[in-house]
Amino acid sequence: MSYRITLLPGDGIGPEVTAATVQILEATGIEFDWVRHEELGANAVEKFGSPLPEHVLDSIKGTKIALKGPVTTPVGKGFKSVNVQLRQKLDLYANVRPCKSLPGIKTPFENVNLIIFRENTEGLYSGLESYDERHDIADSVARISKAGSQKIINFCFEYARTHGLDKVTVVHKANILKLTSGMFLKLAQERAMQYPELTFNDRIIDNMCMQLVVRPQEYTCIVTTNLFGDILSDLAAGLVGGLGVVAGANIGDEYAVFEAVHGSAPDIAGQNKANPTALLRSAEMMLRHLGETKAADAVHDSLVDIYTEAKFLTGDQGGTTGTDVFADQLAARVAERMA
Ligand code: NAI
Ligand code: MG
Repeated sequence: MSYRITLLPGDGIGPEVTAATVQILEATGIEFDWVRHEELGANAVEKFGSPLPEHVLDSIKGTKIALKGPVTTPVGKGFKSVNVQLRQKLDLYANVRPCKSLPGIKTPFENVNLIIFRENTEGLYSGLESYDERHDIADSVARISKAGSQKIINFCFEYARTHGLDKVTVVHKANILKLTSGMFLKLAQERAMQYPELTFNDRIIDNMCMQLVVRPQEYTCIVTTNLFGDILSDLAAGLVGGLGVVAGANIGDEYAVFEAVHGSAPDIAGQNKANPTALLRSAEMMLRHLGETKAADAVHDSLVDIYTEAKFLTGDQGGTTGTDVFADQLAARVAERMA
């Protein structure tokens, strides 16, 4: 039996971290039938006239699961983010981003273990922007629906319950954004009543940023709207070793796309310097999603070994190991565990 999975290497460091991750996944002995599409983002615009060609979307609809590298989005101009479009078009409403300390990675805190549940399809990322030429005024609409909010809130509470986690924090700005953030907060408060075993609280986004850099250990599950979740997840990544080590998963009722939190890192692209840990941890989430617990544990335990030994560390973790050697080292350990 083999798993048919759409593979989207992306651009920037994407192809390097994807190659490393595929090598390590294949070292588990599980068979993957990769449906590979390089055409995404700027290179797809040239060839297909769209950054997200229809056949790539159809491929994910066919395989139901994708493993994806980062894709560059032009800043302040150009095409709409492929990443945001994918999430919206496939209704991948839950962006799940676990931030967990790894042994051996030097950070200001030990034992951070929190998961951010970011609403992934609406809010300020709805794409509702306009420009009034006459008055030179730009507008962005933060559209938040009751149904969309309930989906991510329910997802977070159910995840906490089924994974034995004890606490949910909803993050908002309901003091100012009374209708949008206010509705999100109210729906979370209502939902919390059905989970009496969980501790529930709320934090206003600005205070939450301060709380997270002072006492991150107090948080377990954080559920929030799109923009706040985007920002908080990079902040939380910084607490556990940076963007090189933090995974993510975009989950909907029908499809799932696994990708790291980080972007295409143009500053180190093509130099064999990228840390593939982040995408690998997303792949570990994919293995758990597929029910391949033994392989997922092998990946996890091998990563813990590598970081505990601290001999093969990439530049972002203070080492000099290249992406390729890091992958070789990890693949060997994974294969050993699966033997
Ligand atoms: P970035 O995450 O690409 O890079 C931020 C910093 O972290 C850089 O110094 C980079 O070298 C470092 N970094 C990131 N991943 C790393 C890794 N695996 N190993 C070692 N160091 C790593 O964020 P930035 O610079 O804001 O965005 C670059 C591009 O990526 C933009 O076009 C942005 O739109 C896109 N992007 C795409 C995402 C996606 O495909 N899901 C997510 C975030 C950004
Ligand atoms: Mg981001």
